[in-house]
Amino acid sequence: MDLSKLGHTCVVGMHWGDEGKGKIVDLLTEHFDIVVRFNGGGNAGHTVLIGQEKFALHLLPVGVLSPGKTAAIGPGVALDAGRMLEEIDALAARGVAVGNHLKISDRAHLVMPWHKRQDVLSETALGNSKIGTTARGIGPCYADKMYRAMAIRVVDLLDARALREKIERVAAFKNKLFAACYDDTERLNPAAITEEYLAYAERMRPFICDTTTFFWESIRDGKRLLFEGANGMLLDVDHGTFPFVTSSTTGAIGVPAGAGVPAQTLQTCLGVTKAYTTRVGAGPFPSELKDDIGQYIRERGHEYGTTTGRPRRCGWFDAVAARYTARLGGLTQIAVMHLDTLTGLDRVGVCVGYETAAGPLPGMVADAAMLEQVKPVFEYLPGWKEDLRECRRFEDLPAAARAYLDKLESLIGVPVTIVSVGPERNQTLMRA
Ligand code: GDP
Ligand code: IMO
Ligand code: MG
Repeated sequence: MDLSKLGHTCVVGMHWGDEGKGKIVDLLTEHFDIVVRFNGGGNAGHTVLIGQEKFALHLLPVGVLSPGKTAAIGPGVALDAGRMLEEIDALAARGVAVGNHLKISDRAHLVMPWHKRQDVLSETALGNSKIGTTARGIGPCYADKMYRAMAIRVVDLLDARALREKIERVAAFKNKLFAACYDDTERLNPAAITEEYLAYAERMRPFICDTTTFFWESIRDGKRLLFEGANGMLLDVDHGTFPFVTSSTTGAIGVPAGAGVPAQTLQTCLGVTKAYTTRVGAGPFPSELKDDIGQYIRERGHEYGTTTGRPRRCGWFDAVAARYTARLGGLTQIAVMHLDTLTGLDRVGVCVGYETAAGPLPGMVADAAMLEQVKPVFEYLPGWKEDLRECRRFEDLPAAARAYLDKLESLIGVPVTIVSVGPERNQTLMRA
């Protein structure tokens, strides 16, 4: 695949997150002008390895790592200003200057301290029914956005008096709410929060702008935009395994709304998946392996969360789910990551169906409880023993690994154009 010929492109996850989107966005960035985050917030953790240097980005688009590129945070992001500034400082300490290449939408909603508090209180109250969130305040922030009366946006940072009044009003309400509903004994301090956010405002001022007009004008001027999806399509609030999802639109259909670009903007929708499947947090995972093989994959693939450090649940590749998200995302091509991790297994499995006592399911269904109960139907293919990490061309892969990729491609129904055999940039194979 010739990356230099791609038009406006989105990179989105095909399962429950952590598919390797960060690596792919980093790889594509040199062929684009602007890298845009359009959904999610600090729940994301996108890892990029450049030489020996490892970067884990949560709020800043991966494009900040590439000199000369513009990185933009669109209106659809739940922005934790404090964490983003920490990220900027941490990069600066490592010699990466974000400078004036960053643009932050004045329409984006701010994650406030009460959102993070509410995330934790709500999860604790749910006990065994908890969602297993990242505790980054994502759900409460998006809920307040929809509710409107309690929401604070980036643009609000620019009017100190109005910001102070708003924080006082919302903090008073949240204090009552948390005490009444969760017996919370901690109290939010509106004066301290206001000072904290006014300090953020001063630092953020140079970056804040109307990104929507900026994107329109950039598209008109022939610039190329790369949209960096956060989370994964099975975590989509409308189309994922609800309620075990995040609170935003995580796929290609989230791009127009979250960035503010016309619906027909996207020319390429690149889905990213691992050669197996992982999930962090609670919720159905039909192809999960709770045995030694799951453990083998976890250790070989270093499957521990980038954001929370939690061990990721591991399982065979779920082709039922991948077919669903390929259709949902209108995917035009696919990147298969972590093929190297499957080395050493006698056979590799693929989940091709969901069985219930009442017969097979037609595919992904709305009912999470039903998905929890299904019995996965696995097909097995021969494994391979060769270390794939030194492969540099598709043809270098052993026949069994190529047959496995062909199988995935035929089950999903979308061409596999990129195969990854390690975290580094050069451990990537392009398929014609
Ligand atoms: P993202 O959230 O989709 O960007 O993915 P994460 O960064 O959370 O998790 C993917 C992890 O896999 C990161 O640690 C990457 O460095 C690593 N990674 C990406 N591609 C490969 C690959 O092909 N092989 C191996 N072994 N690791 C990879
Ligand atoms: P990236 O972009 C993996 C999961 C959480 C939890 C659920 C809800 O790195 O792929 P939230 O904090 O969003 O309310 O949590 O969604 N989750 C992710 N899992 N990777 C992510 O992002 C995730 N973002 C959210 O683990 O199950
Ligand atoms: Mg991640």
